[in-house]
Amino acid sequence: MKRLAIVGAGDLGIQIAHHACATGQWKLAGFFDDTRQPGSQVADAQVLGGVKDVAAAHAGGAFDALIVAIGYRHLAARSRIFEQFEGRIPFATVIHPSAIVDPTCRIGPGSVIYPGCVLDMGVTIDANVVVNVGCVIAHDSHVGRGCFLSPGVRLAGFVRIAPASTLGIGTVVIDNVTVGSGIRTGAGAVVIASIADPGLYVGVPAIHKRASA
Ligand SMILES: CC(C)(COP(=O)(O)OP(=O)(O)OC[C@H]1O[C@@H](n2cnc3c(N)ncnc32)[C@H](O)[C@@H]1OP(=O)(O)O)[C@@H](O)C(=O)NCCC(=O)NCCS
Repeated sequence: MKRLAIVGAGDLGIQIAHHACATGQWKLAGFFDDTRQPGSQVADAQVLGGVKDVAAAHAGGAFDALIVAIGYRHLAARSRIFEQFEGRIPFATVIHPSAIVDPTCRIGPGSVIYPGCVLDMGVTIDANVVVNVGCVIAHDSHVGRGCFLSPGVRLAGFVRIAPASTLGIGTVVIDNVTVGSGIRTGAGAVVIASIADPGLYVGVPAIHKRASA
């Protein structure tokens, strides 16, 4: 088994550690977290240091691959930390064994597919994406890097989600629609036409509520 280190020892990090171990491919080497004391215990592992310690720990053989477990509240930090180590340190791709992922799908480094997701033919998930529990992504849809899909998101066919967007729990996007970058959708939003202006969209059909996501 390879050893996985996780940046972020909060709830998301603990969940991702749990799901990664469930694959039987990874064991947890530890967490990196700037807000916690090195050596403190989180789940079944220790905090190995802060983000500044990641490269040296990898060079010293402390772990084999990395995942950034920073959630939708700090999406910019999630992308910044991923890009800091991209190309220098291997990133894991975690697909929970209960997810149904068609063999034609491509899932990028640093991305996590949670339990119960269904990804149909030709789906592409870019790097550093979270696809939370029970998402359904229909054929030929694409999710850009650094996105966060909350539980139960449903994307119809040929949907494109641009980088660094967050879809709230239960968001539905109909086929052939593009969701732009820097967008957040509220719980239960239904996107029935392409949306481009960054910010928050809510409701059925989803409308642009405000400029800040
Ligand atoms: C959309 C959301 C992020 C807004 O939260 P917020 O920034 O605290 O903003 P507010 O609660 O002040 O809501 C702003 C406005 O949007 C409306 N609104 C918020 N959520 C809405 C929703 N899901 N559907 C419809 N309208 C919504 C509010 O009624 C309010 O309207 P008003 O300005 O006319 O009074 C939040 O309500 C939400 O839906 N979060 C989803 C969380 C989620 O998916 N979690 C999963 C994590 S794994």
